[in-house]
Amino acid sequence: MPGMDGLHIENISMRFDLPNGSSVQALKNVSMDIRTGEMVSILGPSGCGKTTLLNIVAGFLAPTQGAVKLDTTAVAGPGPERGMVFQKGALFEWMSVRKNVEFGPRMKGMAKAERDRITDHLLGVVGLQDFKDKAVYELSGGMQQRVALARCLANEPDVILMDEPLGALDALTREKMQGLVLKLWKETGKTVILITHSVEEALLLGERLIVMAPRPGRIHKEYRLPFAERGVNADLREVKKSEGFQETRDEILSMIWEMEEEIMGRSEDAA
Ligand SMILES: Nc1ncnc2c1ncn2[C@@H]1O[C@H](COP(=O)(O)OP(=O)(O)OP(=O)(O)O)[C@@H](O)[C@H]1O
Ligand SMILES: [Mg+2]
Repeated sequence: MPGMDGLHIENISMRFDLPNGSSVQALKNVSMDIRTGEMVSILGPSGCGKTTLLNIVAGFLAPTQGAVKLDTTAVAGPGPERGMVFQKGALFEWMSVRKNVEFGPRMKGMAKAERDRITDHLLGVVGLQDFKDKAVYELSGGMQQRVALARCLANEPDVILMDEPLGALDALTREKMQGLVLKLWKETGKTVILITHSVEEALLLGERLIVMAPRPGRIHKEYRLPFAERGVNADLREVKKSEGFQETRDEILSMIWEMEEEIMGRSEDAA
């Protein structure tokens, strides 16, 4: 059906009922349509429901209202067509890099020769071909996140969901990884949703940037941005100096600053 291609988040609300009888409205009437191959970044103050939204798209959580559809198929639970990359700690630390990357294909029962071919290719893509047989705990944080990306790609997902994937890295490694994410996105044509606390990262990596607001978690503002496309062929530092970047950055920083102020004000009133 024309127009149904892509990921559709349809009027999602999520309420958590707490044991003490109260409840938290984590998301309210959130809708977005993400076309196949689009990279969307999501930004917003702590507690505005970003992780909840991603968990619903991943199928780890069922929303109290609304639906997620990939093309025309409703999401009813986790599935290999939606891969997740976490901030850290989701790798099997005791296993080798190779074993981590081939985990999904092995679970699918893929033959060894084919698994090896896929693993070698992906470790080449993320620049870890010489670390295949190292255990994960021997690697730096940046290398571990590259393994996590390769492991996600090995499952051949259509959609990659990333929750602060670079948040635990030092500034320089983070910048290099941003370049890698852009390259992977361009080369694989995957649909990507990336959650980040960094305004710069959201600007650099999102063709579209969605700013969420808290209490209840909802979409506050949306931007269409040229920077991800620019970054594919240019140094990210040059992109940050390019037209419109600083202005948009400042505008969003003030917007989030105001939201945080409001939250602080409200919790002080409550105290
Ligand atoms: N399992 C749960 N049970 C109860 N409340 C929850 C649960 N998960 C999330 N919440 C609440 O829902 C709201 C949104 O949480 P969520 O983790 O999605 O925020 P976030 O935007 O990812 O925040 P951060 O930027 O800090 O990661 C918060 O108020 C949180 O306390
Ligand atoms: Mg979160």
